[in-house]
Parts: sequence; C-alpha cells; structure tokens
Amino acid sequence: MYGAVVLFVFMCSTATTYADHHQPCHSPNMTGWMSVLSLKGGVRALGAFTYDSMGKKLRFRSNESYPVNTSLGLDLLIFFEEGIFYEIDSKNQSCEKKKLQMFLHPLDIPDDAKFLSTMNIGSASIEGEGLKVNVWTGSIPHMKGDYSMSFTMGCLPLTALYFTETTSLIFSNIEIELEIKDPDLLVVPPFCHGQPVEDTPEGTVNSFLNEFM
Ligand SMILES: *[C@@H]1O[C@H](CO)[C@@H](O)[C@H](O)[C@H]1NC(C)=O
Ligand SMILES: *[C@@H]1O[C@H](CO)[C@@H](O)[C@H](O)[C@H]1NC(C)=O
Ligand SMILES: *[C@@H]1O[C@H](CO)[C@@H](O)[C@H](O)[C@H]1NC(C)=O
Ligand SMILES: *[C@@H]1O[C@H](CO)[C@@H](O)[C@H](O)[C@H]1NC(C)=O
Repeated sequence: MYGAVVLFVFMCSTATTYADHHQPCHSPNMTGWMSVLSLKGGVRALGAFTYDSMGKKLRFRSNESYPVNTSLGLDLLIFFEEGIFYEIDSKNQSCEKKKLQMFLHPLDIPDDAKFLSTMNIGSASIEGEGLKVNVWTGSIPHMKGDYSMSFTMGCLPLTALYFTETTSLIFSNIEIELEIKDPDLLVVPPFCHGQPVEDTPEGTVNSFLNEFM
C-alpha cells in the first residue's frame, strides 16, 4: 500500500499527459483479496472478492480473522448492470437491498478513464523483479474527486486510489486468480429474496466506494 502512495506522488509529478491511444481494458473473472485503506481512518477492511466481468457482479466479504484492526465488517453483493446491491448480514440472516447511485469500483477501468502512462514497479532491467503497469485516471461523479488506477498488462487490477474532499481511499488487490471459485457467492442468498429496495435518503450516494468512507 505504501507503493500505491509512492505511485501517486510520482503521478502528481508527471506534468504532461501522454498521447492517448489506449483503450481501457476490462478485467477478467477473478477471485482475490482486497484491502481498503483510508488516509483518515486506517485499515477499513480486508477481505475476499469475487468478480464476474461479463455479468458485472461483485461480492466483497471482509474477513476479521486477520491480525490487524479493521474498522468495518462488510458483506456486499453488487449487480452493476441492474444498479442494485445488497448489504448482507449472514450472522442474523438479514439483508438490505439498495439502489446504486455511482458505479465506480476498483476492479474495472471506467470507459471514460484517461490513460496516464505505462511504468515499471520495481525494476525493468532485472528479470523477475519488476511489474509493468498501465495507469488510468479520471474524476469521481457526484463527488469532487479524482481517481487513479493501476492495472497489469493482462488487465488485473492492482491498486485504485480515490481522492475526495472529505477522505481518500486506497484499494489494493493481491493473490488474484482468474476464475470464479465459488459462483454461489454471486447469487442472492435465499433470505434476501423478496426484499424491497430501500429508499435513498436525500443527499446520500450509494456506491461501493461510499461503503468504506
Ligand atoms: C465469467 O463467469 C461467468 C459466471 O460464472 C460466466 O458465465 C462467464 O462465462 C465467465 N467468463 C469467462 C470469460 O470465463
Ligand atoms: C477468513 O480468512 C481465513 C484465513 O485465510 C479463512 O480460513 C476463512 O475462510 C476466511 N473467512 C471468510 C468469511 O472469508
Ligand atoms: C486493536 O485495537 C485495540 C483497541 O483499540 C488495541 O488494544 C489492539 O492492540 C489493536 N490490535 C492490533 C493488532 O493493532
Ligand atoms: C442484524 O444485525 C444488524 C447488526 O448486527 C442489525 O443492524 C440488524 O437490525 C439486524 N437485523 C435483524 C433482522 O435482526
């Protein structure tokens, strides 16, 4: 995660934008681990994610068995196509169904993102000691803010940084595998069936990012 901060500082010092001939890639089906760090509140969450790239579905479950203090216990199932998500509480078998207002998330590059540059994390000249990444940037809708995301050449998401007026979030992914290990995680649990969509209070933005703010 320190690397992500260094990466951002480097980007801030990159004054010119490179010629834009790159198209955002779309990440594949994945299972992996995600950590979420808030520059204000420390480690917000650590957990496993499952992502269906074609169906645009994402499950994130924080895991409290890590030896760090995280401030959030979260279980989210998001259907980006439908614009709906569930906040699941498996312990008491309850869930809340909500409307998504903002569709940004750290696993996929938005279509309108701007290509910033290709760079090498680590060393480009020593075999096995470097990782070549593409960096993309853009602004956050509904909020005064910006993001930057780094992806491998094969379009695996490494880090995503979101900067807003009120807080900043850093998402980092590790141990990514190119399959959906447990497809059931992307299915609405039976105890959530028939749940009505909750009203969104005036001024509230529901999004994956907002869950960690
Ligand atoms: C991704 O996963 C979904 C759901 O399991 C599946 O329908 C789709 O074919 C997978 N895509 C690829 C490229 O494997
Ligand atoms: C939490 O992590 C531990 C250790 O990796 C794993 O055994 C356990 O299944 C995880 N729990 C959940 C809910 O993901
Ligand atoms: C977690 O937080 C508690 C209370 O704030 C503190 O006593 C404990 O040392 C922390 N544990 C770790 C691993 O940081
Ligand atoms: C389930 O637990 C959460 C907090 O642990 C609570 O907010 C919620 O009201 C509970 N739901 C039900 C149906 O008991």
